[in-house]
Amino acid sequence: MHLPLSDMYNQPDERNRLDHMRQGVIGKPLDRPEGPLKVSGTATYAAEWRIAGCVDGVLVLASIAQGQVSAIHRDDVLAREGVLAVIADPAMTRRSAQGMAAKAPQQDAARVEYFGQPVALVVAQTFEQARDAALALRIDYTDASDPAPFDPHAPGVKVEAPSDSKPVEGGDLDQAMETAAFSIDVEYDTPGHASAAMEPHATIAQWQGDNLILHGSYQMLAYNVKEIADCLGIAADKVRIIAPYVGGGFGSKLGITHEAVSAAIAARELGRPVRVVMTRQQVFQTVMRRSETRQRVRLAADPAGRLIGLGHEALVSNLPGEKFAEPVTQATEFLYGGENRLLKVEVARISRLTAGSVRAPGEAVGMQVLEAAMDELAEKIGIDPIDLRKRNLPATVPVEGTPYSSRMLTQALEEGAKAFGWSARQTRPCQTREGEWWIGMGMASAARVNMMVPAQARVTLQADGSALVETDQTDIGTGTYAILGQIAGEMLGLPIAQVTVTLGDTALPAGAGSGGSFGAISTGSAVMRACEAIRETLAKRLGCDETDLALKDGSASAPGGESRALPDLLDGHDLVETGSIKPGKTAKEFSQASYGAFFAEVAVHAFTGEVRVRRMTGAFGFGRVLNAKTARSQCLGGMVWGIGSALTEELAFDTRDGHLVNHDLAEYHVPVHADVPAIEVILLEERDAAASPLQAKGVGELGICGAAGAIANAVYNACGVRVRSFPLTLDKIIPALPDPFASAA
Ligand code: MOS
Repeated sequence: MHLPLSDMYNQPDERNRLDHMRQGVIGKPLDRPEGPLKVSGTATYAAEWRIAGCVDGVLVLASIAQGQVSAIHRDDVLAREGVLAVIADPAMTRRSAQGMAAKAPQQDAARVEYFGQPVALVVAQTFEQARDAALALRIDYTDASDPAPFDPHAPGVKVEAPSDSKPVEGGDLDQAMETAAFSIDVEYDTPGHASAAMEPHATIAQWQGDNLILHGSYQMLAYNVKEIADCLGIAADKVRIIAPYVGGGFGSKLGITHEAVSAAIAARELGRPVRVVMTRQQVFQTVMRRSETRQRVRLAADPAGRLIGLGHEALVSNLPGEKFAEPVTQATEFLYGGENRLLKVEVARISRLTAGSVRAPGEAVGMQVLEAAMDELAEKIGIDPIDLRKRNLPATVPVEGTPYSSRMLTQALEEGAKAFGWSARQTRPCQTREGEWWIGMGMASAARVNMMVPAQARVTLQADGSALVETDQTDIGTGTYAILGQIAGEMLGLPIAQVTVTLGDTALPAGAGSGGSFGAISTGSAVMRACEAIRETLAKRLGCDETDLALKDGSASAPGGESRALPDLLDGHDLVETGSIKPGKTAKEFSQASYGAFFAEVAVHAFTGEVRVRRMTGAFGFGRVLNAKTARSQCLGGMVWGIGSALTEELAFDTRDGHLVNHDLAEYHVPVHADVPAIEVILLEERDAAASPLQAKGVGELGICGAAGAIANAVYNACGVRVRSFPLTLDKIIPALPDPFASAA
């Protein structure tokens, strides 16, 4: 196997091979090749694999918040029909692994740390028998002597600086606030969020000798293999994970969690395959939550509306000792100016289920608050909120001085405004009334950091002239199958029907995994590298440079030479290459992010305070669009999340015991079709050469980052009610509504 040209991306100015190909496959709004399997119910998801002799395990969750399990009354349930085992191995009660942890979290395994922590697994012949026994299982506990509080704002709660990030400090913010012509100093709350992926967490574990095979639902297989191996104390090369279809993750499947570990332990103990599927309630109660946040935003502007100071401080929470702290100020660091600044996150140590990555960790809640605060400042200054943003785009990242790789924010603001019809907006609230509804418009910027992570992919140009792309990269509903096929098709001059993509098996080269919006650009760049190597070989055979090689419609030609069909050129042999990529110096030399702008029109009921989003427009610039259809779908999905964050989604904890009260989709309200209006998505033309050889950036999470702020701003514009606590539910709006009988001013 010959390694491709370069495994490190360091040269943003290198000749653009993709443009050179000009096959027109990349960027096309191609349907997902696996779509028909999914809609016909024949794509096999984790729990659906039929494995001979497989039995079912059901997790038992702690019914106390903090303490020790002192006794498990196994015999009572072992006597029941079909029950095979009650397992309580210390390894399976550990916390879930955070994203890209690549090892199991360390934890005093005998301890219960939060209400709902898995403490045992009941295995039976059938799922029903296991569930029945799990509900009947009696467990005795002793309470903790030193309990942590359940509320991040409780008196005496321990508050720490995150272990892996430092505050950003520059100049003198207090001084800037004092001398500013216009300033605001506001506090916002955002609640905890659930990932609420449609497919619950599920694993089927089977052992073949010392080898463990998992069929499961995870996002980042190469890391997950290491995590489960570490948990079980076995070598990582003994573990194989198979996950060709994953029904959403949104962060909750980044790291290995309890159902996988307990299935593996039970399968080893019983000597037969064991399946563990979390119930919807268990998914809510024990997989990663997004932390609630309390955010203080200080904005200080000069008479011309330029920021001279910017403060963004957040209090988030997590279990004691847990490294992850919601990086609330991540986009604030680079988005706007204001050299006098203080950006800081602190974490309160409390007893609630582990906090971790939930779609767009950091920006999802940080941007919605920053953008609402910017709206408050624009109003105070008396300028259009779009103008305020445009006046405050720095030439380089404040304090650090890093240049931007590319930034389509101005274009997004302008094109989005035009498409949305922003010019029709009334500048003052309570100006438009339709029957019993106040109507208003709001906007917000979108920003999300761009990341690349190491990835590998194998491409085989098969003797018959078709291509096979193979990597353990997952497709969690995002369009990975389509995109990786398009990249190979583009590079090798093959119609898309001639490219097969095989994903989600750790026996294949390690892709980036699905997370942090980096899957497509990272693994896609690895596919590109592998194709470059294949092109080199073909060019050599034709006696030309790779740069002069033309591959089109399954044929190859050198300049002036005859066109030869690929099977002829391959002469009965496959060409196999593995491409790899990892972030190079451009990752450090440039501030890389995807940008956009949101526009929302809402109606607020003058009597009940009910908010209906009437329409939304989002304009986004994230480098090269790899597939206009799947990219649009990602943006749509993000904006739907924005509607949920703005109006309905909120994890409700009982502050007496940390119990998650609304642990299902009936009580935790994600937007449904009736909540989601017509959404327009504009994809801007952009190339970002520093971001990846594909000149593409991440798009997966961009559509959520700020969307809820646009809706909150529209609510204010409609009825003059500024709610600084998300979600904007009726109870918070009604008390501040203007006289409903007053006509529009
Ligand atoms: Mo994402 S929250 O990195 O799946």
